[in-house]
Order: sequence, then structure tokens, then C-alpha cells
Amino acid sequence: MASSPLLWPSTFIALDGPLGAGKTTFVRHLLRALGVQGRIKSPTFAVMEPYTVQGQAVSHFDFYRFDDAREWADAGFRDIFAAPGLKLAEWPGRAGALLPVPDWMLHIDTAGNDRREVTVHACTPHGVALLP
Ligand SMILES: Nc1ncnc2c1ncn2[C@@H]1O[C@H](COP(=O)(O)OP(=O)(O)O)[C@@H](O)[C@H]1O
Ligand SMILES: [Mg+2]
Repeated sequence: MASSPLLWPSTFIALDGPLGAGKTTFVRHLLRALGVQGRIKSPTFAVMEPYTVQGQAVSHFDFYRFDDAREWADAGFRDIFAAPGLKLAEWPGRAGALLPVPDWMLHIDTAGNDRREVTVHACTPHGVALLP
């Protein structure tokens, strides 16, 4: 089976928006749609939760509590971004200049209790090709 262009060779989606906007919820639904089964935890404390989807690596980051760039190198995150697969990152601004340019920058805003506004900025040629 040909894998999704999200999974191969490589896609990076950054998710921006205030606490409670729905970034983790969006990622959960995306991972479910790609076929991830079982519990999908918020990576707020672990910083990264790894998955394997259709044989490809998927990494879900939350940089909310991230404040040490050396932690980044120690944890091998740089290697993850250099390797194939799908990377999803909440609070990308808190990772400083360590992150590459995302293929999509996704902004989620609350628009009332049960409404959200999602804006997608495609920042790379691959990101543009992924647009519907
Ligand atoms: N599209 C949506 N519509 C309504 N409620 C949502 C939506 N997305 C998330 N929520 C609710 O908002 C709350 C916070 O969501 P969460 O995904 O944890 O936010 P974030 O990761 O941006 O901090 C949760 O209670 C969730 O059920
Ligand atoms: Mg979150």
C-alpha cells in the first residue's frame, strides 16, 4: 500500500494557538484517521510521544514546558527531525530556533465554546502540495 504523503518521505506540522484551543485534540483525530489505535496521550510532560503508522515514524511533540536547548540535543530530537516520517509539534515557539521551517503552520483559535477556527499556512513546497 502506498503510504500517505503525510508519512513519507517527511512532513512537519506545527500547531499554534492558546492553551485549550484544541491542538492536542486535532492531533488525536489526525492520528486516529491515520490508523493509530489505543491511547493517544498529550505529550505535555514527556515532551514527545512516538507512534508507528503504516511502518513510518510519527512523533507528537509539546514544547510547552521546554526551556533548555541542550535537552533538545540530549533527547535526540534533532535526529527525529532529520529522519523520515510525520512530526507534529505544539508550542513550536518554545523550542526556539531549533525547529526547522514547518510544512504547515496550523493556527487554532477558539470561536465560542464549541467552535474553532483553523488557519493553515503552507510554508514549503511540500506543504503547498499537501493543501487540499
Ligand atoms: N474543535 C473543537 N470543538 C470543541 N471543543 C474542542 C475542540 N477541540 C478541542 N476542544 C476541547 O477543548 C479542550 C482543550 O483541548 P486541547 O486539545 O487539550 O487543547 P490544547 O492542546 O490546544 O491546549 C478540550 O476539553 C477539548 O475537548
Ligand atoms: Mg495540548
